[in-house]
Amino acid sequence: MSCKFKLLLENAEQMVVVCRKEEEFLLQEGMQQLAVLENASLVVGNDGYIKAVGPTELIRNQFSHESFETKIDCSGKCVLPGFIDAHTHPVWAGDRVNEFAMKLAGATYMEIHQAGGGINSTVEYTTAASEEELYCSFKHRLQRMLRAGTTLVECKSGYGLKLETELKMLRVIERAQTEMDIGISSTYCGAHSVPKGKNAVEAADDIITNHLPALKQLALNGEIHVDNIDVFCEKGVFDLDSTKRILQAGKAIGLHLNFHGDELSPMKSAELGAELGAHAVSHLEEISDEGIVALAKTKCSAVLLPTTAYILRLKQPRARDMLNAGVIVSLGSDFNPNAYCLSMPMVMHLACVNMRMSLNEALAAATINAAYALGRSHTHGSLEVGKQGDVVIINSSRWEHLIYQFGGHQELIEYVIIKGKIV
Ligand code: NIG
Ligand code: FE
Repeated sequence: MSCKFKLLLENAEQMVVVCRKEEEFLLQEGMQQLAVLENASLVVGNDGYIKAVGPTELIRNQFSHESFETKIDCSGKCVLPGFIDAHTHPVWAGDRVNEFAMKLAGATYMEIHQAGGGINSTVEYTTAASEEELYCSFKHRLQRMLRAGTTLVECKSGYGLKLETELKMLRVIERAQTEMDIGISSTYCGAHSVPKGKNAVEAADDIITNHLPALKQLALNGEIHVDNIDVFCEKGVFDLDSTKRILQAGKAIGLHLNFHGDELSPMKSAELGAELGAHAVSHLEEISDEGIVALAKTKCSAVLLPTTAYILRLKQPRARDMLNAGVIVSLGSDFNPNAYCLSMPMVMHLACVNMRMSLNEALAAATINAAYALGRSHTHGSLEVGKQGDVVIINSSRWEHLIYQFGGHQELIEYVIIKGKIV
């Protein structure tokens, strides 16, 4: 006989539900007052969505005659929403470990980029790799993310630049969406670097006249579904005007705008994101005061990436100023061959220590607000009735251990659950 419900989590020492009533995102005050239930239980239905969450006694009485496919006794453990990684570049071939040594010896990111290394070197390896090779390494990376508690991840293309290779990357992302449990928000990032032999204006023209119409057609055919469009808006890469043209063309075919800005140089990218109604702008180490005000006036999220600032020894993103101003702050790992970190617990730790976020703020930024940056906060990012049953269970009676134990998540995370299924 089949069970009526998929999963029961009982007796959790702490259940960090994050928000209580379907909030789209949290601002500073809400982030600081996360809802944490003591001795709590949670029920996921056969459809993978949360049916009940509350005090253990209450849930026990309400569901005493029901059957569950899986029951987990969470005594001595904490239950949290699955983590959401709002920014990654996970599909690529080759290796850039040599560049790490160069950077430690003093080379800057842009020096390496302009000498043909960096993104351009990964483009060469990715162009040469077969679709199957790319899929295998991507799948392995997603499995590692899952083990670190990530249940929804934004995945960019962007190491093809030429249409053919960009589409190869997007097909690989599409395949993972159908074959793996982890949730994916997919991003076309063909404007990640200006291809050899073109300038930014010509590259933007090519994207607008060739790439985007092809993506639109493939979506209509049901072959490739892309959620977001990204541009690397940076001095020496895509200037503000080319960025704007590409993003507007992307918006016109229904993509969410979610782009790299104000990372290495002040570009007024935040202001552009606010003007265009972007869902998110990432990085923002070099954001201006005006950019902070502009973001705070809109619902555009600032996706902060502490690993990049750390590894490139950049200015830290001004998380406190953004939070004080009322910006929707979220977090991502920026996993890529430059910033090789797949773990959101480590990202949260860096956000707390280097960007001075509190533990509560970091968790909200890596759950509900990251979901919002991806346009998914109606289904993801908190443990509320009606949302997807995506859960992380840690073997500790205080949830803060998740962030406090730097690099220790392998031992700490006991279960990762997606739509009520242990993965
Ligand atoms: O977010 N800044 C642009 N893109 C990536 C780096 C990609 C790479 O170096 O391969 C980033 O840091
Ligand atoms: Fe990035």
